[in-house]
Amino acid sequence: KIEKEKIEKIIEAGRFTQTSTNSQDVSYTVVINKLDELKDLAFKALNKKGEYILNNLTPDTEYLKRYATLWTYFYKMYKEDPIKNDKLLFNAPAVIIVTANNELNGALAASKMDLMVDALGLGTFYSGFLQIATDGNNEILDLLKINNKKKVVACMVIGYPNVKYKRTVPRKDAEINWI
Ligand SMILES: Cc1cc2nc3c(=O)[nH]c(=O)nc-3n(C[C@H](O)[C@H](O)[C@H](O)COP(=O)(O)O)c2cc1C
Repeated sequence: KIEKEKIEKIIEAGRFTQTSTNSQDVSYTVVINKLDELKDLAFKALNKKGEYILNNLTPDTEYLKRYATLWTYFYKMYKEDPIKNDKLLFNAPAVIIVTANNELNGALAASKMDLMVDALGLGTFYSGFLQIATDGNNEILDLLKINNKKKVVACMVIGYPNVKYKRTVPRKDAEINWI
C-alpha cells in the first residue's frame, strides 16, 4: 500500500509542471479502491481488441498480431488466476491516470511525477496497454469518471518495487545530429 501523502506529493510534482499558455489543464485520477474493477474491464477490453485484430488481420494490421496474441493470452491467464497472472498491473496498489487537453502538458507532468515516484522510494511504469484499453471504452471512462473530453495521456502504475537495481539500464547510443 502507498501512503496517501506520497500520492499527494507525486501529484504536486505534476501540478507544478509548466503548461503551454499557462493553461494548467492537467488532471489526475487516482485509482486505489476500484483497481479490481478497472483491471477486470481493462483485461476484457484488451481481449476483445485482440480477438478483433486476430480475426481481421490485413497487411496493415500484421504488426499488431504480436500484441493481439499477448492480450488474448493475458486474459486467459488472468481468468485462471487473477492474482498470480496479473500481467497488466502486476498487483500494484495504485494507478494514476493523467489527462489533459494538450498531450505534451500531460506528458511533461507525468514525467516530473515519475521522478517524484523514484525520489519517494516507489517505482512506476507507464501502462500503454491500460491506455489502449481505456481508449473509447465508455465503461472504463465512466468508472474513472473521465468524461470531460480531456485525453488520457499517461497511465502510471505505482507501487513499492520488489527489485533493486545494481546498475542503470543498457540503452542504444543517442542519435544526435550536430548541425
Ligand atoms: C509509453 C510507455 C508505455 C508502456 N507500456 C507498458 C505496458 O503496457 N506494459 C508493460 O509491462 N510495460 C510498459 N512500458 C514499460 C516499457 O516496456 C519499459 O519502460 C521499457 O521496456 C524499458 O525498460 P526499463 O523501463 O526497465 O528501462 C511502457 C513504457 C512506456 C514509456
